[in-house]
Amino acid sequence: MRTITLINGDGIGPEISDAVVKIIDASGLKINWDVQTAGADVVHEEGTPLPPRVLESIKVNKVALKAPVTTPIGYGFSSVNVQLRKALDLYASVRPAKNLPNIQTRYDNVNLVIVRENTEDLYAGVEHRIDENSAESIKIITRKASERICRYAFEYAVKHKRKEVCVATKANICKLSDGLFLDCFRKIAQNYPKIKTREILVDNLCLQLVQDPSQFEVIVMPNLYGDIVSDLTAGLIGGLGVAQGANIGEYCAVFEPVHGSAPDIKGQNKANPTALLLSAIEMLKYIDETTYAEKIEKALYKTLKSGIRTVDIGGTASTTEFTDAIISNL
Ligand code: NAI
Repeated sequence: MRTITLINGDGIGPEISDAVVKIIDASGLKINWDVQTAGADVVHEEGTPLPPRVLESIKVNKVALKAPVTTPIGYGFSSVNVQLRKALDLYASVRPAKNLPNIQTRYDNVNLVIVRENTEDLYAGVEHRIDENSAESIKIITRKASERICRYAFEYAVKHKRKEVCVATKANICKLSDGLFLDCFRKIAQNYPKIKTREILVDNLCLQLVQDPSQFEVIVMPNLYGDIVSDLTAGLIGGLGVAQGANIGEYCAVFEPVHGSAPDIKGQNKANPTALLLSAIEMLKYIDETTYAEKIEKALYKTLKSGIRTVDIGGTASTTEFTDAIISNL
């Protein structure tokens, strides 16, 4: 039986991870979940929000499913999510945005993937106070990380039969840092002559995405832009409750939704488990459990088609009602 690390998270994390574990279990696939706690709940006892045992577990199991973990805003410990990605060198954040059945949005033709560099840029949080009234944050872009993520994007395009890879930067303003990223993109692109390329400034990308998202297939970009733009693309397909994600490294992978711990709806049996479920489905494909992945995906689609939906996507079902409906459609 395969052992997979499960980080239950906090906020709505435990509710949605319970739902997803129940669904996978009901599909007939036996998984030994190595449950690991992290975040604010463990700081007092273990002195850190990301104890070494969590990293060890993922290193041994190679794969983890992760629910969101709260990061204090503007104070306190640095993000568990960022620390995890850095410690395990999970360099590629892959965030597909694809329409789901029966979820009303402005568009019915979205099928794109954001490939976000996951280890550096302003998102690395390297910053300091200069004096009481000023602070400085350092934007780090390296050739090694930029070439690696661009190569990943092209390989992804080849594997998933996508015709074009677009790169989004602000290389007109950040000529050195984003300029280097763009340079790496152009260099790597030469190895993939059959894939079309497109270069776009990230502000124009936002405009184009909300006007006609069908123009895009795979979009690669530095870390911070990827963080922001993937919330935008989540909005194109029905919101954060349905936006899946994966953090892929050379040696291990952590599958997690785009959304955070949603403290505003915590404990209300309202959270949509779809984003974590879609992340788990990708995880099952990643470990070659494709039959179970497809079985669960079909049950999810059938449930949505039948009109059973959580509140965030226009329905009335609670987390547990939605979960039970998926299980009965398996
Ligand atoms: P958020 O994604 O938690 O919530 C934004 C809005 O979307 C809220 O109105 C929330 O109710 C709704 N929402 C999110 N997921 C939902 C779901 N599954 N079903 C229904 N509605 C959902 O973003 P926010 O409020 O900015 O962040 C809250 C905390 O989460 C922060 O501490 C942040 O640092 C953390 N966070 C953690 C992430 C992770 O663990 N990977 C990623 C993003 C944020």
